[in-house]
Amino acid sequence: MDNHGWRKIFHHPEGTRSGPSKLGINFVVASAPTRPYKFSTSTTLPIAQSLDSSHDLSQCMGVGAVVWDAGDLLCDFMCHPANSQQYIHNKTVLDLGSGTGVCGIVAAANGAKQTWLTDVKSLKGLNMNNLNMAREAFFAAGDEPAAVRGLENTDFASYWWGTELPEELHLAENKFYDVIIASDDLYDDDAFPPLLASLKLLVGPTTTVLFSYKRRMDSREVPFFEKLSTILDLRVDTHFGDKKYNETYIVVGRRLHTGPILS
Ligand SMILES: C[S@@+](CC[C@H](N)C(=O)[O-])C[C@H]1O[C@@H](n2cnc3c(N)ncnc32)[C@H](O)[C@@H]1O
Repeated sequence: MDNHGWRKIFHHPEGTRSGPSKLGINFVVASAPTRPYKFSTSTTLPIAQSLDSSHDLSQCMGVGAVVWDAGDLLCDFMCHPANSQQYIHNKTVLDLGSGTGVCGIVAAANGAKQTWLTDVKSLKGLNMNNLNMAREAFFAAGDEPAAVRGLENTDFASYWWGTELPEELHLAENKFYDVIIASDDLYDDDAFPPLLASLKLLVGPTTTVLFSYKRRMDSREVPFFEKLSTILDLRVDTHFGDKKYNETYIVVGRRLHTGPILS
């Protein structure tokens, strides 16, 4: 774990590094009907995507219906054995802005105790389709009981950031999710205040937030991290995997104070 915190991301000027994608998505890869995720030597998850201009963009379907590079990176992070054990195995997980569902599904396949995929309502079908295909892939492989269990205990709930949690996402009083996944949730600054509000609602004293962050515009994103860093200790983790995406980082957040979060 890197101890310099999130500020080190912004130590070099924007756009000075080269890489395969400046947007956080490669349109050729995103236009394919699936973006398979190789989970293990025996199991590949056929994650379906749908970059179709007829989708209702006001419901973010076009944005969420593809696997973003940040999502792929977070999956690699969660599949790293040490990270899987530390952050995911036997934990309760909520994926905020699940898109295709890929990150939550990979968390579930890493043995999460219970996983919620959450996004706008129009993405429910795609999430459930990908979840069912993942279940079939693991049932067919037959050698990963923890993954089968994790995927059986996974579901989708529609949730719009900044609003009250729907009934199904409620936990017992004073209980919080162990892990919140937030992959490429900072692409639209209109969503920053509601995202922050949701994080305040969801993060408990022992919750870990796994952000996969694609750097796009410092003038918008640094102030977001400034605000976030008043409630979370934020560390950049670079010690996993060998896939590199341009300016894309795993940031691990933990509560700074154990008392209630004030707005
Ligand atoms: C860039 S996509 C990332 C999808 C996925 N996490 C990944 O990394 O592949 C961001 C997701 O956040 C969702 N989203 C954006 N604003 C939202 C809001 N206010 N409430 C709920 N979901 C939102 C979008 O629908 C979309 O699926």
